[in-house]
Amino acid sequence: MNQNQDQWKTRLGFMLAAMGSAVGLGNIWRFPYITGELGGATFLIVYLAFVFLIGIPLLLNEFSIGKAGQKDAVGSFKNLAPNTKWHWTGFMGVIGGILILSFYSVVAGWSLFYLYKYLTGSYWTEPDGGFGQVFNDWITNPLMPLFWQALFLGLTLFIVVRGVKGGIEKANALLMPILAILMIFMAGYVLTLDGALEGLQFLFTPDWSQLNNPKLYLTALGQAFFSLSIGVSGMLTYASYLKSKDKLPGAAIGVGVMDTVFAVIAGIMIFPAVFSFGLEVSSGPPLVFITLPSIFASMPLGNIVAIVFFVLLSLAALSSAISLLELPVSFFKRTVGMSRKAATYLCTTIIFVIGIASSLGFGIWSGVTIGDQNILGMVDFFTANFVLPFGAVLMAIFVGWYLDREQAKRNSEIENPVMFNIWYGIVKYLVPIVMIALVIANVFGYTA
Ligand code: PHE
Ligand code: NA
Repeated sequence: MNQNQDQWKTRLGFMLAAMGSAVGLGNIWRFPYITGELGGATFLIVYLAFVFLIGIPLLLNEFSIGKAGQKDAVGSFKNLAPNTKWHWTGFMGVIGGILILSFYSVVAGWSLFYLYKYLTGSYWTEPDGGFGQVFNDWITNPLMPLFWQALFLGLTLFIVVRGVKGGIEKANALLMPILAILMIFMAGYVLTLDGALEGLQFLFTPDWSQLNNPKLYLTALGQAFFSLSIGVSGMLTYASYLKSKDKLPGAAIGVGVMDTVFAVIAGIMIFPAVFSFGLEVSSGPPLVFITLPSIFASMPLGNIVAIVFFVLLSLAALSSAISLLELPVSFFKRTVGMSRKAATYLCTTIIFVIGIASSLGFGIWSGVTIGDQNILGMVDFFTANFVLPFGAVLMAIFVGWYLDREQAKRNSEIENPVMFNIWYGIVKYLVPIVMIALVIANVFGYTA
């Protein structure tokens, strides 16, 4: 095995980096607006069921492949399954990671721009035309969002180019505690507002009729995978930097629980605020860029809260983007044989160039749509609801059906035999069955 492979310095460093990958725009931007669109508590329940029943076991599954494979997304599969086509799963992940970061960096760029606007005071009061108008003018501008997107990718590059120990591990050790503190501060403050109760009711009172909606399940599953970063081999890549003595099951549970806590706190932070100001919960992707700013403008201490919020959003995005960039970087570095520096610059450039389309899709290319989705919406939909579930199910089939039971057991590092059987049953049978059921339900659901 490769001797000079990158490694984490400590197990905690790996845990924090994996949590950093998980906690991101998925929790603070995507989760609240999807929950708002799909009826609140009902979506939350299905989402939680998927996270604990399928998400966390699949996170462990993905970790186990990376740690046993000890190489990048493609190399790990080649190591474990030589002379087969399994490494295409990793290759699809590399492409998926590039696509996700291409649109992720657009939204992260908006967040950085909003942070800048709050730091300079321009958004402290509702501007002429309102925040909706301002946001619209901003995203339709062809050049400025690209500048902020490039800036965000530049920050990501700055960390990844410094390597696993010196860049990624150090950055996350700093970012994760900051995120946790800011998040608790925000949620605590918002709960003191009038109307907070109504928002909590929305998040915690189910509307069971929504359970008949097949779209709810695929969206919840896609959100669970997106939020836990599973299916694209980013987590596989992080696990490949582990030394043999580090244990996986605890890490998978820790990351899964932490990610879910962040999503729920983001909901607790956003919905009470939305309700206490009588705004629309189902406003979609602009929720945090239009709805929240109006709230901040009329909230006591709103300017400070806004700055905290956009720092939080930008840093959470950064720690996830790092993992999304490291995924193709480690592929180019080890499989193609480039230096880390060359691979990082190359991948960042490719991602930026592809991402231009998602950004322009709000303005000069807004005619390019499928249904009501613009380019960013399409790439987001395609990766979260197709690439991630498909990648994750392939990894489940790989461990459940290609590897033998003993290998699966050793790689998973689950010591308790009962726990192992439960996990193995989920990976081998439940996941493929749920996937097939979902595909059928959605095909009929959409055509009916
Ligand atoms: N989990 C990240 C988030 O919630 C997004 C992500 C997906 C990161 C896939 C890495 C891989 O924002
Ligand atoms: Na997440």
